[in-house]
Amino acid sequence: MVLVAKARLRYLVIACVATIPVLYFLLYQALPDTFSSVVSSHSLPNGRPQHVTPPPAKVNDSHPISGLIEDAYASFSRLLAKRSWSLAYAAARYRELRGRHPPPGFDQWFEAAQSNGAIIVEEFFDRIHHDINPFWGVNPDKLRRQARGLPHAIRVRNGKIAHFKDDDPDPPRKDRLELWEKLVQDMLPHLPDLDIPVNLLDEPRVLVPWEDIARNIAKERTSRRLFPPNEAVAERTSFSDVDTDPPQPFEPEWIDDRHKYWNYVSRACPPNSPARKVQPIEASTPIDDVFPTGPMSYMGDGGFITNFTQAQDPCLQPHLRGMHGTFVEPFSMVTATKLFPFFSGSKLPINNELLIPDAMYLSSETRYSGGTKHGGPWAEKKDALVWRGTASGGRNQEGNWWHYQRHRFVQMLNGSAVSLVQGGGPGAGPTFNLKAANSYNVSAPHESQLGPWLNKWSDVGFNRLDCWPESHDWLGRLRLNCPYTDPFFKLVGSKPMVEQYNYKFLPDVDGNSFSARWRGFLLSTSCPLKATVYAEWHDDRLMPWLHFVPFDNTFMDIYAIMDYFLDGHDAEAQRIAEEGQDWASKVLRREDMMLYMWRLLLEYARVLDPQRDRLGFVGDLATDAST
Ligand SMILES: *[C@@H]1O[C@H](CO)[C@@H](O)[C@H](O)[C@H]1NC(C)=O
Ligand SMILES: *[C@@H]1O[C@H](CO)[C@@H](O)[C@H](O)[C@H]1NC(C)=O
Ligand SMILES: *[C@@H]1O[C@H](CO)[C@@H](O)[C@H](O)[C@H]1NC(C)=O
Ligand SMILES: *[C@@H]1O[C@H](CO)[C@@H](O)[C@H](O)[C@H]1NC(C)=O
Repeated sequence: MVLVAKARLRYLVIACVATIPVLYFLLYQALPDTFSSVVSSHSLPNGRPQHVTPPPAKVNDSHPISGLIEDAYASFSRLLAKRSWSLAYAAARYRELRGRHPPPGFDQWFEAAQSNGAIIVEEFFDRIHHDINPFWGVNPDKLRRQARGLPHAIRVRNGKIAHFKDDDPDPPRKDRLELWEKLVQDMLPHLPDLDIPVNLLDEPRVLVPWEDIARNIAKERTSRRLFPPNEAVAERTSFSDVDTDPPQPFEPEWIDDRHKYWNYVSRACPPNSPARKVQPIEASTPIDDVFPTGPMSYMGDGGFITNFTQAQDPCLQPHLRGMHGTFVEPFSMVTATKLFPFFSGSKLPINNELLIPDAMYLSSETRYSGGTKHGGPWAEKKDALVWRGTASGGRNQEGNWWHYQRHRFVQMLNGSAVSLVQGGGPGAGPTFNLKAANSYNVSAPHESQLGPWLNKWSDVGFNRLDCWPESHDWLGRLRLNCPYTDPFFKLVGSKPMVEQYNYKFLPDVDGNSFSARWRGFLLSTSCPLKATVYAEWHDDRLMPWLHFVPFDNTFMDIYAIMDYFLDGHDAEAQRIAEEGQDWASKVLRREDMMLYMWRLLLEYARVLDPQRDRLGFVGDLATDAST
């Protein structure tokens, strides 16, 4: 009896296994749109054991920041466990997350990623899809013509970089165009015909009203389909139809309305968001009238940031219209409110450019990269924080300068200024409000003596005050100081990045847009801290509280954060410094920037192709079906 049962069981198992391909075939014929549920990544072996960073030594207290550090470890380990080791797994994860087949050329891209030793986790590319999806709502012919008609672009024809008669031969910031062009060179043989118009200004340029983008995103959603592999097309359409003579220029209807930038920002925010409900501030408004007094929705216990994505989002922070130069008066505003293809190195979360690694990260200038040295061992560093920079952020003027983020940052970390304010000195701190910072827990001896405490560890100052209008001395040299801010700021000597690496703490705040030192800071042996409203290509691969310390754009949490690290949590700061450096050296390499750009350009090429609904990589599926 037992033997018979065993034989039956074996028969049953064989029969079941044999029917799988048949079932698979039937299911997939019958339900092409639910294909993803049949071939989901969960059913595919990932090929190799996972290497997850070992858990940290147990953080030994109940401080909220210690909890955030532990949570960051756990989230990061979960994310890294999804690493793609094989093309089939990478393609399956793509289908699972994006609801489409990967674009043609995905196999070559993945192969290049592997031969470059890149760590590929599909979530690291979420930004690409966020940026590209609205373009599925626009006719591809229109997109091609727009891209062809813009004067500053990288153009690919027949596998080579092409230059046309109508291209601007000498654009402002030509160095940026050239650095990007060099990056594209690295992937050239694998690219179809393309026009890649790039933003050469500091500030982002495309800000489409929320409702228009929502319509486009809805179109993208309904156009998603996992069509049967035999319907797939891999051949991309050439650009011969847009290379007309004479070419048709495209004019995006640029707007310069610098004093009212917030109005454009708020229209790009969701209808029920706090930003949508407020008008731009009058420049004369005192800071006390805009500074928020309580914690934000994206803060947890103790008022520390729990969601850095939200902490970057001006839609959730109406007070930023009076606390960040971008919204008060940017240096330049050349903005369009209709969608067209445009690539930029950084942008506000609501801008509609396609993000690429900024050109400055591709530059070897030590001013940005910090050079090849990344700092000495932790134990040899000063228990202190350092920041040097210019008073950029926009056009700071006599009547508005106290609304600019860098002015606030330098004042809030200046012990003398804070002492004056704590001592009740009227008008001593026009850029900040201590009430908000006082709602944080800072250990008692520091809290009552903030100024002297800051003097012990803070070394912060401007090396240029960027007044507007600019003034010059009798020899015609630009004046570095500024009459209206001179009572509050003293010019200090600049400190090259290698010298800054002698300090344990390196905070980074926005200038006219993102800060190009960020990658250098991450790669250093010091502990980087970040407050920003600017999104960058690498955001999805960096984990706050693990690779860097996030702080709020109001800076009201900075004292409490420094109190934590300086008072008994040196080991935690060291760990963030080391984790950040180790991770940055693996995923922020030039190769990683090249692979990100390549992946984006494959998506971009598809969305611009008249055949886009049939373009897809299905090589992995065809092989599966034949075995
Ligand atoms: C960790 O916590 C325990 C119990 O609270 C304490 O006895 C010990 O001294 C702490 N260790 C460190 C390194 O702080
Ligand atoms: C401050 O610390 C005390 C005791 O550690 C705690 O009970 C309180 O909730 C903290 N307050 C804030 C705002 O974090
Ligand atoms: C952070 O907020 C964003 C936007 O609201 C959300 O999509 C994301 O899931 C949140 N992340 C975490 C870790 O909660
Ligand atoms: C710090 O603040 C004091 C008081 O406002 C000011 O005189 C001084 O110039 C400031 N120092 C720097 C480096 O800006």
